[in-house]
Amino acid sequence: MGTIKNYLSFMEIPERKGEETLIESDWDINLEGVAFSYPLSDHPAVKNVSFTIKNRETVAIVGENGSGKTTIVRLITGLYLPDEGMVLYGDEDIRNISVKSLFMKTSGVFQKFQKYQLTLRENIAISDVDKEPVNDELDRISAMSGLDVSDSSLERGYDTMLSREFDGVDLSGGQWQRIAIARGFYRSHDLIVLDEPTASIDPLEETKIYKRFAEISKDKTAIIVTHRLGSVKLADRIIVMDKGEVADIGSHTELISRCDKYREMWDAQAQYYV
Ligand SMILES: Nc1ncnc2c1ncn2[C@@H]1O[C@H](COP(=O)(O)OP(=O)(O)OP(=O)(O)O)[C@@H](O)[C@H]1O
Ligand SMILES: [Mg+2]
Repeated sequence: MGTIKNYLSFMEIPERKGEETLIESDWDINLEGVAFSYPLSDHPAVKNVSFTIKNRETVAIVGENGSGKTTIVRLITGLYLPDEGMVLYGDEDIRNISVKSLFMKTSGVFQKFQKYQLTLRENIAISDVDKEPVNDELDRISAMSGLDVSDSSLERGYDTMLSREFDGVDLSGGQWQRIAIARGFYRSHDLIVLDEPTASIDPLEETKIYKRFAEISKDKTAIIVTHRLGSVKLADRIIVMDKGEVADIGSHTELISRCDKYREMWDAQAQYYV
């Protein structure tokens, strides 16, 4: 009953309006004094957030659980609108851009992702139904995502059905995560967000995935969210979140020397990366 109630009230939310604009390909993303509270919550999940992500930059957002990382990327991608302040793509406030235009060139892999009862090919290609899912392209994407399609659990390669109910197979959490990552990479995009899609993947493999990702995303704007610090050195800049606010922004070396919060996180994890 609860689910249905939520669904019905969701369907009653008015459609967001906005201009059907083609977003310029050389935009920067600007956050100016952004604050956001979840409904029924008595404190803001993020507040006073201002920074710029330059076009084609790779940025990492780090911080402890609940520090506001996911909320920030949902605001950047326009899934949520800020209560205060502005999110600008170039000079355009995202409130004035239609949802369709906004999402056209954006791809995201989130902490909670979907497992479709479809074939592996369909599970990857569903993110961009306008493209023909040919094996060459899927091979390239799978290699980036650390997905081994020759694995014995995938009996029929890309045409393996990923569902026991339909005479197919089920996969491990880590394999599903790699498929979700592949789905995000497959979609044509100018902006890509990876919000900790690697929790069931071990830290070393995670670092490998992010390294390949950074090489291939050189000409895209990329945002990596993580609370493991092993992968963040490859970002151009690192944004440190603390209790909903930006604690500092800089390179790994700069942050180690001046940001207590970052050093604290680094010291706690350094043993894994030495
Ligand atoms: N759907 C929601 N409804 C209400 N409060 C929420 C919701 N999602 C997050 N919050 C709250 O907002 C704050 C920021 O959460 P957010 O998910 O952005 O943090 P995070 O840094 O991504 O954490 P994690 O590392 O656990 O993913 C937290 O206090 C959290 O409890
Ligand atoms: Mg999160």
